[in-house]
Amino acid sequence: MSAKVEGVVAPCERAPLPEVESCVIVIFGASGDLSKRKLIPALYDLFHAGCLKRNFAVLGVGQSTWSDEEFRAQMREGAEKSEDVDEFNDAKWQEFAAHLTYTTGDLTTDAIYNEVATRSEKLHEQIAPNAARNRLFYFSTPPSLAPVMVKHLGAAGLNNEEHGWSRIIIEKPFGRDLASAQSLNAEIASVFNEHQVFRIDHYLGKETVQNILVFRFGNSIFEPVWNRNYIDYVEITAAETLGIGGRAGYYEEAGALRDMVANHLLQLLALTAMEPPVAFDADSVREEKVQVFRSIRPMTPDDVTRKTVRGQYGAGTVEGQQVPAYRNEQGVKKDSNTETFVAVEFCIENWRWAGVPFYVRTGKRLADKVSEIAIHFKRTPQALFARTPEDRIEPNVIVLRIQPDEGMTVTIATKLPGMEMHAGTVHMVFNYESGFGVRTAAAYETLLLDALQGDATLFTRRDETEAEWRLITPIEEAWAQAAAPPFPNYAAGSDGPRAADELLARAGHRWRALQESHIDTQAASESVSQQTNDGAHVQAQAEEVAQA
Ligand SMILES: NC(=O)c1ccc[n+]([C@@H]2O[C@H](COP(=O)([O-])OP(=O)(O)OC[C@H]3O[C@@H](n4cnc5c(N)ncnc54)[C@H](OP(=O)(O)O)[C@@H]3O)[C@@H](O)[C@H]2O)c1
Repeated sequence: MSAKVEGVVAPCERAPLPEVESCVIVIFGASGDLSKRKLIPALYDLFHAGCLKRNFAVLGVGQSTWSDEEFRAQMREGAEKSEDVDEFNDAKWQEFAAHLTYTTGDLTTDAIYNEVATRSEKLHEQIAPNAARNRLFYFSTPPSLAPVMVKHLGAAGLNNEEHGWSRIIIEKPFGRDLASAQSLNAEIASVFNEHQVFRIDHYLGKETVQNILVFRFGNSIFEPVWNRNYIDYVEITAAETLGIGGRAGYYEEAGALRDMVANHLLQLLALTAMEPPVAFDADSVREEKVQVFRSIRPMTPDDVTRKTVRGQYGAGTVEGQQVPAYRNEQGVKKDSNTETFVAVEFCIENWRWAGVPFYVRTGKRLADKVSEIAIHFKRTPQALFARTPEDRIEPNVIVLRIQPDEGMTVTIATKLPGMEMHAGTVHMVFNYESGFGVRTAAAYETLLLDALQGDATLFTRRDETEAEWRLITPIEEAWAQAAAPPFPNYAAGSDGPRAADELLARAGHRWRALQESHIDTQAASESVSQQTNDGAHVQAQAEEVAQA
């Protein structure tokens, strides 16, 4: 049985975007995967949204010996296939592609930086001779090159801001442990000032991730209950159905903890747990996030045994396809102990959160692709309506969905229709795209635009990266000392290892099933929804919960 409730949100149009100053964008590693799939499609969209006008140029740098035309053809392929691109067509592409140029070089040598200096000056002369010499350098290169590149940029004077701004965007992973992150930060600080440095974590560019802040601090009804008095536990999930693709080399070195928890999941945790910032600016927001990391005590080896679970997938079926075990993936060692799944219980020891576990989990080859934050509230103190087993009311849960369909679900108790008094749970589902009727901007679009405007709010500050590694490195070290679990310990296509369920069960908690989020949203989209005059709507679906 199901019933529906309708609500209304304010009408929304995509606000006009700001126009960026004249600049040259240098993409180091322009012949690589990220550039083709994400960066160029994002710039194409920014160009057609009017943020980049005729006075910008992109200079791609890679080892592949491509001409400008070959570079454009490669990038076109990426933009054409990209799901992020708003609207691809030939005329628009030609207009944009005229701004793309390419040069070949080895980024470990001086020569290429001198060439970049000369080429970018020429480009400035062409696009806007009288404008400031603004330059954005994107490090879309193997992480090991970052310290060398920083040094060379300094030696070539490309860090200089005398005639315009100079900024660098550095991709994740930012170091591989605390010591390497500190050393990279020190190297960067010897050449660039912190205001010139943009450490990117693309999760922060996602609409729903930014919405965590609006949801928490733009509503007065949630903040009073956002603490240990009302919240039982928090789960943060980033599950993928994909395996490692062709990235065995990288993944064997990284593993799930470094690849996902050290950045994306800790960032989600910080946004969920942080205190209200005094202002929505880079320093205020980042200061509060750092305070969260400082409130988590780094784990001892004993904590690591009790509060972490690592997993590696065996063969199985994902989305109807038979897939091999991790150890049989191309490029992976047959006895690899790299984790493809991790679950960690973090405890934030401050006034707001003491005693509330924050469980995070991530993994590859899982049953469903879903990223979400689920806030589980405590049960009501009195079971007033539990007259029959059917009347069981589930505790409230707020789910903030980040992928694949951005939005949120709130579960609340309601009387079920009928003459008898029975209670059940309703799921109020809000979907960003259908709710507002507009496409949400791709994360790289948002973040590139922010960096071009010098807004670092959604980028990671120096002390933040180190605070994150201070929590992750003790886990890596304890794992290195202990014997790995008997891998593989979960089948591809499952929800992960049983030990992850046991981690929560010990405290009487449970993970949401990975397909639960889809079930919520599908049920909502199938439900009858009244479209209001302004086109915006919120759907809510009520369903009977009849669990003992
Ligand atoms: N791909 C993603 O979805 C993704 C997501 C998040 C973060 N990242 C991060 O983004 C960065 C780039 O990733 P990617 O997947 O694009 O890697 P990739 O496909 O391996 O591309 C690396 C790029 O760096 C260039 N390169 C390597 N060594 C060089 C050298 N000595 N001199 C000049 N160019 C050199 C390569 O040139 P050639 O190919 O011409 O040799 C290529 O253009 C990495 O830090 C990665 O961790 C990637």
